[in-house]
Amino acid sequence: NKGHYEHYMQKEIHEQPESLTTTMRGRLIHRGSSKSKSVLLGGLKDHLKTIRRSRRIVFIGCGTSYNAALAARPILEELSGIPVTMEIASDLLDREGPIYREDTAVFVSQSGETADTLLALEYALDNGALCVGITNTVGSAIARNTHCGVHINAGAEIGVASTKAYTSQIVVMVMLALAIGGDTISNQTRREAIIDGLFDLPNKVREVLKLDQVMKELAKLLIAEQSLLVFGRGYNYATALEGALKVKEVALMHSEGILAGEMKHGPLALVDENLPIVVIATRDACFSKQQSVIQQLHARKGRLIVMCSKGDAATVCPNEYCRVIEVPEDVDCLQPVINVVPLQLLAYHLTVLRGFNVDQPRNLAKSVTTQ
Ligand code: UD1
Ligand code: BG6
Repeated sequence: NKGHYEHYMQKEIHEQPESLTTTMRGRLIHRGSSKSKSVLLGGLKDHLKTIRRSRRIVFIGCGTSYNAALAARPILEELSGIPVTMEIASDLLDREGPIYREDTAVFVSQSGETADTLLALEYALDNGALCVGITNTVGSAIARNTHCGVHINAGAEIGVASTKAYTSQIVVMVMLALAIGGDTISNQTRREAIIDGLFDLPNKVREVLKLDQVMKELAKLLIAEQSLLVFGRGYNYATALEGALKVKEVALMHSEGILAGEMKHGPLALVDENLPIVVIATRDACFSKQQSVIQQLHARKGRLIVMCSKGDAATVCPNEYCRVIEVPEDVDCLQPVINVVPLQLLAYHLTVLRGFNVDQPRNLAKSVTTQ
């Protein structure tokens, strides 16, 4: 049921304040008057000790689910102190990469049925790793075959391009980082800021959704383009990959997410006055580096669209031709949840304006159950 929406993708983008609320329901705890805040993931509580003892945490997934894990990687490294590595499921299988008994392997999958992710799970089980699932589908193969896990509870996702599952996956993995990290005096302020941020996240997403019309106008400008680059780094490297994935899979426009730190190692050669480039430059530890990226792209006459924190337009824009997407600021590790929303809206509007099928893009399937 699409309600008053024209497409499922549109509905699923706009219901993110609600899906995120459901994802967090019962899992964020304010303990009495001491105001002590914590996270409770029922599916993991008996396994946290084992996870904390593991030598490595390895995220395994495909497509958007992989990108969500990439977005959560920095906070998991920071709070757990455990090395975190990333595997695209098919690539792990192609290489038969090393997975050990001392590893915690985390399988991220909206459907819980993706063939490559499922085969990678069998492989990790054979190798004796602790296998954790993060899925949206109760009773799915990944939910059943993992040792433990967390349901993201985002509600059924119909649009082939994943939107609300992506933001709920990130939130669950941020909660996973808080749960594994545990309480120490030294990280208490940081933990509280993140938990406060989680409580307020649905409101921030509601706010960023007001950019719908702004993104539609931007889509009109880009309707006939052949290509769109998206530059990000740090917490928002994943946002760049995911934004580009949305544009390519539904709007059928070539798009590439680029790690801004790699700009000089190739991508800079593409820059001219025609190719549109989105640069994500919201406030976090990478902000000044991104300001310098903007300057360098501007020096090559790049056609810039800058995503920045509210109030930063004048600071980040090198000239009056630069287009701006101003988004609400949040704790660094939650900012990817906010920043992906305008890019989801952009991909949606581009698709509708270009006259393509939004909910069932050409050649793609919601769940890829064959290799
Ligand atoms: C569970 C109930 C929820 C109830 C809540 C009350 C289910 C599905 N969830 O939620 O309805 O309101 O308790 O306390 O009945 N699991 C895996 N792999 C996965 C995902 C989950 O093994 O990929 C396992 C978990 O380890 C857990 C179980 O499935 O044993 C349920 O997980 P989850 O729904 O996330 O647990 P709760 O949030 O505690
Ligand atoms: C397909 C979907 O390619 O599978 C994507 O079209 C999705 O939206 C990917 O990200 C992985 O699916 P899942 O269910 O394992 O998260």
